[in-house]
Amino acid sequence: MMPIKPILTIPDFMPLSAEQRAWLQGYYAGMAMQAEMSVAAGSGLSSFAVDIFIGTQTGNAEGLAEDMAMTLGRAGAQSRLHQLDDVEMDDLAGMENVLVITSTYGEGEMPDNAHLFWEALESETAPRLQAVKFSVLALGDTAYDEFCAAGKMIDKRFEQLGATRLAERVDCDVDYEDLAAGWSETVMAQFAPLIAEAAPAEGGAVPAPAGAASTKSKWTRKNPFPTELSVNRRLSGPNSQKDIRHYEVALVGEDTPTYEAGDAVNVLPVNDPALVDLWLDRLGMKADSAVPGHDQPLADLLLRDWEIVTPTKDFVAMVAMKSGDRELAHVLEHNDKETLEDFLWNKDTLDLLIDFPHISLDLNEVGTLLRPLQHRAYSISSSSKVHPDSVHMTISTVRFRGNRRLHQGVASGYLAERVSDADALSVFMSPNKNFRVPKQGDAPIIMVGPGTGVAPFRAFLQERQATGASGENWLFFGDQTRADDYIYSDELEAMHGDGLLNRLDLAFSRDQADKVYVQHRMIEHGKALFDWLERGAHFYVCGDATRMARDVDEALHQVIAEQGGMDEDAARDYVNAMKKAKRYARDVY
Ligand SMILES: Cc1cc2nc3c(=O)[nH]c(=O)nc-3n(C[C@H](O)[C@H](O)[C@H](O)COP(=O)(O)OP(=O)(O)OC[C@H]3O[C@@H](n4cnc5c(N)ncnc54)[C@H](O)[C@@H]3O)c2cc1C
Ligand SMILES: NC(=O)c1ccc[n+]([C@@H]2O[C@H](COP(=O)([O-])OP(=O)(O)OC[C@H]3O[C@@H](n4cnc5c(N)ncnc54)[C@H](OP(=O)(O)O)[C@@H]3O)[C@@H](O)[C@H]2O)c1
Ligand SMILES: Cc1cc2nc3c(=O)[nH]c(=O)nc-3n(C[C@H](O)[C@H](O)[C@H](O)COP(=O)(O)O)c2cc1C
Repeated sequence: MMPIKPILTIPDFMPLSAEQRAWLQGYYAGMAMQAEMSVAAGSGLSSFAVDIFIGTQTGNAEGLAEDMAMTLGRAGAQSRLHQLDDVEMDDLAGMENVLVITSTYGEGEMPDNAHLFWEALESETAPRLQAVKFSVLALGDTAYDEFCAAGKMIDKRFEQLGATRLAERVDCDVDYEDLAAGWSETVMAQFAPLIAEAAPAEGGAVPAPAGAASTKSKWTRKNPFPTELSVNRRLSGPNSQKDIRHYEVALVGEDTPTYEAGDAVNVLPVNDPALVDLWLDRLGMKADSAVPGHDQPLADLLLRDWEIVTPTKDFVAMVAMKSGDRELAHVLEHNDKETLEDFLWNKDTLDLLIDFPHISLDLNEVGTLLRPLQHRAYSISSSSKVHPDSVHMTISTVRFRGNRRLHQGVASGYLAERVSDADALSVFMSPNKNFRVPKQGDAPIIMVGPGTGVAPFRAFLQERQATGASGENWLFFGDQTRADDYIYSDELEAMHGDGLLNRLDLAFSRDQADKVYVQHRMIEHGKALFDWLERGAHFYVCGDATRMARDVDEALHQVIAEQGGMDEDAARDYVNAMKKAKRYARDVY
């Protein structure tokens, strides 16, 4: 019997709050997905069930997990999706078929939604997992030293705990789609006979949880939305050391991408044509040279397809080898990251060729040493409830001088200087379900966002205003100087003035002899901050990952310990409980 298609849209006249409407929409989407699975399976679901664990920061792993759930559904199996931190060790020990799809963040670390899971899994008290059959799909980026470290660590630990690998781990670089599809096929080949053998599910198909509702958009990295840049406005003042800009990207027409406050928008950049000309000069090649294995001529590949600013590890290794430079070879041999970073500072890939003029490259080498040009992610700084026809971004333009040339970041330079009104701009969204305003509108929120880290909080504040959320809002913002770097000051002061922003604490690092950072303000207002946390406040951090977010985390622990009269362990437990309750979320880069 054909399953009945559930209703998909909630009529406007239904008297529902925004949250109720969102919940119902998710529930319907889950039902629709289940119906589609049942249709595909033909005769309903079998009792064979798979638990899919998701470790994600920006949504790629979540998207693949949803695809996997659909594939399993089509084959007649049931699946349950879990954020890694929601998995309890005792439950894990009782599971039979587990698929882990996880990215890696920071410097070879777990993504934020997997820290608690990893802490429990690596602990000596973790249970034995003899009953578990598993496979890991690891997402990463070979530009990082610790490639796919999170997936590798989980894979190894499952094995140590006695679990059986049903398919080898697959490690994916930035172009992960094909490898992920291959992994999915291998896993499904293992599952197919087990699904066939399993008894039919009792009581017919079980509706998928709302969490399994597909959030997939048709606009993706491979099929980006063509649009235009409608606003490009400088935010930082004339004496700022930075060029921070506010951008608006039009979302008009049929079937435009949608977004929520907390998501990221991705821009597919184009390299600087002037830089491409310099490359052609240095290579001594013509723009229309044919490149083996590619349909486009060399100049087009350099412009649109290859990353020509940041050198790859292979490129640096080639330079060390061909130049015979002993110092560079020594640095690479000893994996001396700090010296290598110093060496590469103020240099781009072309500089390496300019610094070693005797190196020559053939077209094959150029093609293999440069990696594919990647999109750049930007935390969205608008709420679609207030700006349904556009998406806003807040971007600091990367510029540095070296070799008597001004260097620019690929995407930030492209947006700042090279996209004109008439040009098409290609974008797609990355949903980030782990970075959202609280569902309960009356929950207080504390936002820490110095520099461009303020972006998602502008979106959050717009969202809270639009939905009439009654919860209090507190923002910690800072940058170098009040005069030139207080971006969105008019908006923030107005929000503070009209009471939407209950507290606004500012830290301008270079307005006095000593550095003052947002974490200093947190400690200064520790009593009030702890009081907000005790009243259930959600704590958010956005911006620089390597320094700021670490120091803010430390300050949070310090405030909790001092104000709550706790020792270090108790403060850590307090923060872990916040994470578990999804009251501590970060969007750091
Ligand atoms: C989820 C997420 C959200 C983000 N949100 C924002 C946001 O809201 N706003 C924002 O501005 N950015 C944001 N970013 C960062 C953004 O994606 C880009 O990384 C940033 O804009 C730089 O990209 P680019 O193409 O301009 O520079 P690239 O061409 O990628 O060049 C940057 C590279 O230049 C290097 N570099 C910088 N200075 C020097 C120097 N002096 N010498 C040598 N090398 C140098 C850096 O190390 C870096 O590797 C976000 C990133 C992520 C992952
Ligand atoms: N990894 C790095 O070394 C590095 C450096 C700069 C920027 N970035 C990247 O640049 C991008 C955007 O930067 P941005 O211009 O928006 O902001 P930003 O460089 O993070 O600066 C914002 C403010 O944070 C201050 N700050 C510096 N170190 C801090 C710390 N440990 N704790 C708290 N605050 C600190 C800065 O002060 P001062 O500048 O006066 O110290 C400044 O006032 C991000 O991608 C960021 O990751 C990275
Ligand atoms: C700030 C940052 C740090 C990252 N660190 C690593 C890393 O250490 N190792 C790695 O292999 N990949 C690293 N990655 C790449 C991500 O794992 C990769 O982009 C992945 O596809 C993201 O998947 P997600 O959207 O599910 O989080 C990093 C990405 C970012 C933006």
